[in-house]
Amino acid sequence: MKKLLLLLAVIVPAFLGAKAPSVQITPQPREIKLGNGTFKVKGAGFNYESSLEERTVKAIAALADDISAATGKVSSLAIAAGVGSSAAASSLKGVYFLEDKAVPAENYRIEISRKGVKVTASEHNGFFYAVQTLRQLLPAGVYKGVAGGKWKLPCGVISDGPRFGYRGILLDACRHFWSIDETKKFIDIMAIYKLNRLHWHLTEDQGWRLEVKKYPELVEKGAFRSGTQIGYDRESSDGVRYGGYYTQEQIKDIVSYAWERGITVVPELDLPGHMLGALATYPQLGCTGGPYEVWTRWGVSKDVLCVGKEETFAFLEGVLDEVCELFPSEYIHIGGDECPKARWETCPLCQARADELGLVSDDKGTREQKLQNYVTARIQAYLQGKGRKVIGWDEILDGDLAPGATIMSWRGTKGGEKAAANGFDVIMSPNTYCYLDYSQSLDFKSEPLGITRKASRALPLEKAYGYEPYDGLPAEATGHILGVQGNLWTEYIATPEHLEYMLLPRMLAIAEVQWCPADAKDFARFHSALVEHQQKVFEILGYNFRKE
Ligand code: ACM
Ligand code: ZN
Repeated sequence: MKKLLLLLAVIVPAFLGAKAPSVQITPQPREIKLGNGTFKVKGAGFNYESSLEERTVKAIAALADDISAATGKVSSLAIAAGVGSSAAASSLKGVYFLEDKAVPAENYRIEISRKGVKVTASEHNGFFYAVQTLRQLLPAGVYKGVAGGKWKLPCGVISDGPRFGYRGILLDACRHFWSIDETKKFIDIMAIYKLNRLHWHLTEDQGWRLEVKKYPELVEKGAFRSGTQIGYDRESSDGVRYGGYYTQEQIKDIVSYAWERGITVVPELDLPGHMLGALATYPQLGCTGGPYEVWTRWGVSKDVLCVGKEETFAFLEGVLDEVCELFPSEYIHIGGDECPKARWETCPLCQARADELGLVSDDKGTREQKLQNYVTARIQAYLQGKGRKVIGWDEILDGDLAPGATIMSWRGTKGGEKAAANGFDVIMSPNTYCYLDYSQSLDFKSEPLGITRKASRALPLEKAYGYEPYDGLPAEATGHILGVQGNLWTEYIATPEHLEYMLLPRMLAIAEVQWCPADAKDFARFHSALVEHQQKVFEILGYNFRKE
């Protein structure tokens, strides 16, 4: 019987005409049906409907240019006149990008025949992701217009769309600072794997990175520290002045660069803790009055904003006014993590505020936790007045949180489970599966520095891949999970090479968690696409990565 099955396994595909063609697209598309034959892209014309956005046409033009450079024959670009989305791919000659309003946002469909390729989507991200998929069907040289390999697309149909609408990565630009070019390279690799949110962590104890015109001293003083802790020794400092910031022009450039690639930049103004960058600049905003310094060490500072003073809220609102001008994102991240309450407990102004609000400790939370709830609600209302929503780390849930905030679950999955069960929207970024500053293997000696050397906190590729965001949730709460995010904190990451190494390839594992339904995930399939194709993409684009 076994022999018969083996024989059939060999004969049947041969009888059907060819060995089963395989494609290596990450994240794995929802549906791939491959037929016989191929479409030759060398010299193929690219055509797009005139209703497409300029940024969409730019992505199509870049693909045509790269194919022209790689094949040595020009792939022209033209408006598709008189061709509608109902045309059959086999009736087309060349590659066509056609608008079909019936396709859901971020979804796309690619039909490949021997003569023509038809791509349909209803908006920019759908088309942009179709372009990414077409690139992944071609040799890795397509990313640089480099020859080599077979310039053919397999005939068939790919229908695709994401599981989650929020697919993010956090980049910490505070503990270490990343240039505009480094940040763009980070965005480029996110775009290839269809992520759509860059959570940009811009304010911290160790440096304020955001130019605010109303408060110019923030970047003159708050963006620089007098040294940086060496390795894991919290008491050490290298004594080398370190820092940097982004001008508003540079920020606009990044927002627009990301937007062209279907990525929304979600800025984080971390408050009321993690604020030494601001406190070093304006000590009157703290409970003790300082003096404070931009921190040279990692960890959690006891010194936080004084929330008994109206001046603190005026400051935050002044900063948020400019944040909203710079970032069109529907969501503004307001931090809320790791805010020790020691200063508030003894500050007469914070205590007077708690009295005035009638806050008492009870089984929901302490009086000071409720003071943080007050801060969250007040900032949330301010931003709501500007048409924005807030995201906060799961600590904002402690105490008695007002409705309306979205929770980013980082202390494991518990915060997210509690939030979703209580009707809050949630983005899951549990440190147990999504923290990219954790070491990628237990062999710590061969790995670069990660946030800890604890075996329980390593995050190998397969563990990141195995994350299932609905685990632990009752079915009726799953609708509150907006998406998943990987977090790349940079306390121990000082160079772009190290940054890329921590990101790759784990970002691709997270991309499949974000994009693919749970039952479509398959680590062996993912791993083979990584080794056989995606690592070549990293190499050709010059990214450092961990070889798997
Ligand atoms: C965090 O990792 N402190 C959100
Ligand atoms: Zn105070």
